[in-house]
Amino acid sequence: MSKPSIYITRAIPQETIDALRSEFDVEVNPDDRALTRQELKEKVKGRAAIVSLLTDTIDGEILDAAGPGCKIVANYAVGFNNFDLAAATARNIILTNTPGVLDDATATHTITLLLATAKRIVESDKYVRDGKWQGWAPMFFIGLDVDRKTLGIAGLGRIGKNVARKARAFDMQILYSDVQPDSAFEAETGARFVDKATLIAESDFLTLHTPLTPETRHYIGAAELQQMKPTAVLINASRGPVVDEAALVEALRRRQIFGAGLDVYENEPALAPGLAELDNVVIVPHIASATPDTRRAMGEIVVRNIRKVLNGEAPETCVNPAVLG
Ligand code: GLV
Ligand code: GLV
Repeated sequence: MSKPSIYITRAIPQETIDALRSEFDVEVNPDDRALTRQELKEKVKGRAAIVSLLTDTIDGEILDAAGPGCKIVANYAVGFNNFDLAAATARNIILTNTPGVLDDATATHTITLLLATAKRIVESDKYVRDGKWQGWAPMFFIGLDVDRKTLGIAGLGRIGKNVARKARAFDMQILYSDVQPDSAFEAETGARFVDKATLIAESDFLTLHTPLTPETRHYIGAAELQQMKPTAVLINASRGPVVDEAALVEALRRRQIFGAGLDVYENEPALAPGLAELDNVVIVPHIASATPDTRRAMGEIVVRNIRKVLNGEAPETCVNPAVLG
């Protein structure tokens, strides 16, 4: 019997590819770029499994192109807003993600953005490189205090909790909002469960860790930005559309808040007009989980999920559990 055929939409760590190759017939997109939709449709044809990225929209049309032999689409990401869950469930196809293994990297990245924005690191680095520095001055590049300030966390999942634990090293007071309170977490960290309005009004640093869903799209818009403290910082390492980016550009331009640290954008890789001209925002290219250990561990979950599903077992991290019956 021939081995099941797997398609990987873009190069991921070689050891993940090798692990899959040892058991399956594997083809990888040879170009280090996202496939066009047409290419994706052609390449998935007849595959038993597909390894997708958050840049690949996996909907009914793509799943139909893959055909009835397709058992699993394994996203090489924790976020899965690129999946049409209902379309996959209707076709009896299992969808998986890579939760857990990127919490540390993403939380560390969140803290990095927070500190870099508070201390104006990118802006002042550029100032020095541009040859503008005239020497030490007492009122020069005043940033923000971080220690003992209030950190607001929107979305208390694994990553949000990890950020809170790291922020405790700065004795930050933690506020959080989610669909329900978590008393064990509150006992551990002293965090306080608040409603969205309180979170927005009281946070010195507000960081977003919700998944992108219809409910969280534009969770932060013009009205919310208006309610933030003028000294507040907004951090987003979740999904771009959780923030109304045009409204954020306007708020930053008018200095309505102190600054923002962004890893993600509404229309990646495009930025909202004007964003890149502002000096009170730190902008990095969706790299929160980009560390060697994390990328490797994400690959290990992908391999285990595919192996299990193609052996007729349940995967470890199914995101459309209705399909498992
Ligand atoms: C990265 O954004 C991920 O969802 O893994
Ligand atoms: C700063 O460099 C100081 O010595 O206060």
